[in-house]
Amino acid sequence: MESNQKSSKISGFYKLPINQRIKIIKNFSELTDEDISSLIAPIDMELADTMIENVIGTFELPIGIAMNFVINGTDMLIPMVVEESSVVAAASNAAKIARIHGGFTTEITDPLMIGQIQILGVDDIASAVQKINDKKAEILQVANAQDQVLVNLGGGAKDLEIRILETSDQKMIVTHLIVDVRDAMGANAVNTMVEALAPIMEELTGGYIRLKILSNLADKRIAKAKAVFDKVRMGGEQVVDAFLESYTLASIDPYRAATHNKGIMNGIDAVICATGNDFRDIEAGAHAYAARNGQYTSLTRYDKDDKGNLVGEIELPVAVGIVGGAGSIHPKAKFCKKILGIKTAAQLSEIIASVGLAQNFAAVFALSTVGIQKGHMSLHAKNIAMMAGATKDEIEKVAEMMVKEGKVKMDRAKEIIDSIR
Ligand code: MEV
Repeated sequence: MESNQKSSKISGFYKLPINQRIKIIKNFSELTDEDISSLIAPIDMELADTMIENVIGTFELPIGIAMNFVINGTDMLIPMVVEESSVVAAASNAAKIARIHGGFTTEITDPLMIGQIQILGVDDIASAVQKINDKKAEILQVANAQDQVLVNLGGGAKDLEIRILETSDQKMIVTHLIVDVRDAMGANAVNTMVEALAPIMEELTGGYIRLKILSNLADKRIAKAKAVFDKVRMGGEQVVDAFLESYTLASIDPYRAATHNKGIMNGIDAVICATGNDFRDIEAGAHAYAARNGQYTSLTRYDKDDKGNLVGEIELPVAVGIVGGAGSIHPKAKFCKKILGIKTAAQLSEIIASVGLAQNFAAVFALSTVGIQKGHMSLHAKNIAMMAGATKDEIEKVAEMMVKEGKVKMDRAKEIIDSIR
């Protein structure tokens, strides 16, 4: 990532009117007036009609900006598209604590995706496997002939891995085609390749092919992020210990791990959506990876450093693209990618891992101290006030009174509205 001198720590951002916030983002990310128009205008119905079938409208979600992120030494503002209150504020808060010790550092693998070819009805499995191995170079050549552009960019089919799987009444060969997809998510490239290979595999093995499709368990395309969360800023070493006790449950119990990982995905999906990527793909990959050792567990790990600070790490598959797919045509996704200033899918996966760790830290920190309801309450109270019929000028006051009283309820909101009118 290129280094810049700008700071993503902009105090009071949340208090500014929306147009002031946009101005700050425009300056930070060097956006044009045209970029800003694409943020403000609703997406074109004709464009929507090209994206999916039977279109009747579009569905808007808020874009919020997570502040304070430093990733591999660079200050970043992170656009997040999400319907849940507190997610953006929580990520920003975590990033603020992480930046005390330099922010997030990341590590990623090459962008290798897996395409599966399921071969059934093979009489002599050992000899079929031998034949596939003997013809590996030719097989890879046929795969690569499907996508000369990818090959020219340094990507393409790189390897074959063979697995033998069996049920009580059937044995099968499952061939994995390993494809470097560069800056794409890669589903199209991989699916085209495995479909093209099906006839060759049938001929070689004497069997027949059923499935030929990408695997969403992209365990060769891993992103890792790490950060140190300052013990003093967290409230002292006893808070760090409380955090670690809370985390421990996620590491040993799938019931807690599911919720813990859901919190991680709150942040990750928000960036995935903002950049026009496929959130189902990321979700499937993350949860399958969390169960890779036979028991579903946490995607993050925490420990203390020798000074008593909390050290957090996350590791998960991140199959995202910055070329192809909806992210290349959706004007708001293009806008969000400009805010991030990213040039490669690798940079995006570093950001995603960092946001996932930040989001998880924020949730577990809140849970092991004040609980999450406190943070949720103020926005929730505003929603209740709005639903109870408060006008724009009344919402803030009604919400504030409900939070103060600890009674955030529709009937109380209605009473307050009546009393202030
Ligand atoms: C809520 O959307 C997410 C949390 O439940 C995550 C967690 O419990 O770690 C707060």
